Amino acid sequence: MSPDTVLDELVSAAQSSFAAARSPADLENAKAQFLGKAGRVTELMKGLAALSVEDKKTRGAAINQTKQAIEAALTARRQALAQAELDAQLKAEALDVSLPGRQRSTGGLHPVSLTLERIEAIFGSMGFDVAQGPEIETDWFNFTALNTPEDHPARSMHDTFYVEGGTEAAPNLLRTHTSPMQIRYAVQHVKKHRAMLDRGELMPEIRVIAPGRTYRVDSDATHSPMFHQCEGLWIGENVSFKDLKVVFTDFCRTFFETKDLVLRFRPSFFPFTEPSAEIDIQFQQGPLAGRWLEVAGSGQVHPNVVRHMGLDPEKYIGFAFGMGPDRLTMLRYGVNDLRLFFDGDLRFLSQFN
Ligand code: PHE
Repeated sequence: MSPDTVLDELVSAAQSSFAAARSPADLENAKAQFLGKAGRVTELMKGLAALSVEDKKTRGAAINQTKQAIEAALTARRQALAQAELDAQLKAEALDVSLPGRQRSTGGLHPVSLTLERIEAIFGSMGFDVAQGPEIETDWFNFTALNTPEDHPARSMHDTFYVEGGTEAAPNLLRTHTSPMQIRYAVQHVKKHRAMLDRGELMPEIRVIAPGRTYRVDSDATHSPMFHQCEGLWIGENVSFKDLKVVFTDFCRTFFETKDLVLRFRPSFFPFTEPSAEIDIQFQQGPLAGRWLEVAGSGQVHPNVVRHMGLDPEKYIGFAFGMGPDRLTMLRYGVNDLRLFFDGDLRFLSQFN
């Protein structure tokens, strides 16, 4: 075999060895066989030592060419393997942008929440503050301070959820109405304006609504053990029943978006108001036209309650009302079963958004 044939064969051997390498690690092993310290090209170089100066030149040049050809083959294979690796990675990580997107469902407000927001906005525009109070109350705020006698039926086990305890620190019942907020808010208000009152000046009026959850032992199509109420309170030097009528009529007409709505103040009784009235509304048009519908209890705040607020009932007078946002929601949307609001069925709830 001529020396050149040996060199040519060495290049093809390297090429096929590199081609057989399936990974960069395989390729580095193959490279060592040819270009490593004990590799075949190195062996050839060592053989030069025995040759004459003339032969060294020609043979040396030929070996160098062989070496360069092998190095070129190595580089080409390295690049091919790197490209294959990249292709595989891109394929594995590929996103199919033609797939349909995953829909993100949007939440919505509960119909009763929509009503509460509406109530707050309407009374807010009439200058009423919005207050929140505790749902676990003391006997004092829920009953006693509201002039409710010891033997009042609302205090019985059948009507009220009692819990362990019974002190200011450990309240003992789930509030049966939002009326305790009349006392809580007024007491804070009076405290804030103590200095003015002590100087014999007139304090700014109390004008507040207090929406929230309330609880009674009651359950049927129109009563739920948990339900909502919204209290209203306006106390000043000269706040009369006429103001109650104006404010509440305005509220109802704005809430139901109709002027064709009549109100009736039907004499009633509450321990904490005197005189007291149930407020009924009547639509003149639509499916409910002509029927009287009860929406709130109300009245002029009882002097004993004004006293428990820390105010002189000879100087301060006003009205309070307690309405049912659940009822208002049923009337506004034509819902006939109160329990639908609290079952959490999305087929029902999603219709309001
Ligand atoms: N708290 C009464 C109820 O729950 C409603 C009411 C509130 C009546 C304020 C008069 C004044 O029925």
